[in-house]
Amino acid sequence: MIIAIDGPAGVGKSTVAKLLAARLGYLYLDTGALYRAIAWKVLHEGVELADHARVANLLEAMSVNMQFQNGSMQVSVDGHDITGELRKPEVTSAASIVSAIPMVRAWLLPIQRQIGQQGSVVAEGRDIGTTVFPFAPLKFFLNADATVRAERRHRELVAAGHRETVETTYQNLLGRDLRDRNRSVAPLVPAVDARPIDTSTLDVEQVVAQMMAVVSAAL
Ligand code: DC
Repeated sequence: MIIAIDGPAGVGKSTVAKLLAARLGYLYLDTGALYRAIAWKVLHEGVELADHARVANLLEAMSVNMQFQNGSMQVSVDGHDITGELRKPEVTSAASIVSAIPMVRAWLLPIQRQIGQQGSVVAEGRDIGTTVFPFAPLKFFLNADATVRAERRHRELVAAGHRETVETTYQNLLGRDLRDRNRSVAPLVPAVDARPIDTSTLDVEQVVAQMMAVVSAAL
């Protein structure tokens, strides 16, 4: 069983996907972490984000691995655990840029599908229902007002010790939305068979409850 959850940044996907996976006893696959791992590697090696040929060279020599522990996902690149690096603002913005490179998406596709074969999975990202697992029997597309999403993302950043204004968070989020929605390969769009949920006025429990009702009816 694969449950696909897609939507823009700051919509609450990770939180609800993790909770849903825990309640169902499924693996939680955070596909954004894979794009972030590549972004981390590109920054770490000092490669220009616009230099696609060098990004391709990096991918050829790079290994990315995931370990699933207590419902969360640890990511290592070339044998080093980099999970703690992935949420840094510079990695966040680089991830949005590298994720628009078609070859990066093609490289990650079999990795994601292989995890999908490991058992029942709640997979979260931007193109899960459209591209990675188009035959997933259950698909959700979360959305929320950009201001609400920016406030949520800002609270997370502050809690993690990063300092920036809500306005900066808001502008960065709009920039990512624009890139994610307009890239040529696997842009952020709802799958035709995805169930939309607007999370603007819902808390995490309410979103998970809506999803659980759908999942229970389907199982
Ligand atoms: O969900 P996230 O914020 O961790 O994702 C980081 C970036 O990766 C985001 O800017 C878009 C990209 N991404 C993607 O293009 N496709 C996915 N399935 C997941 C993430």
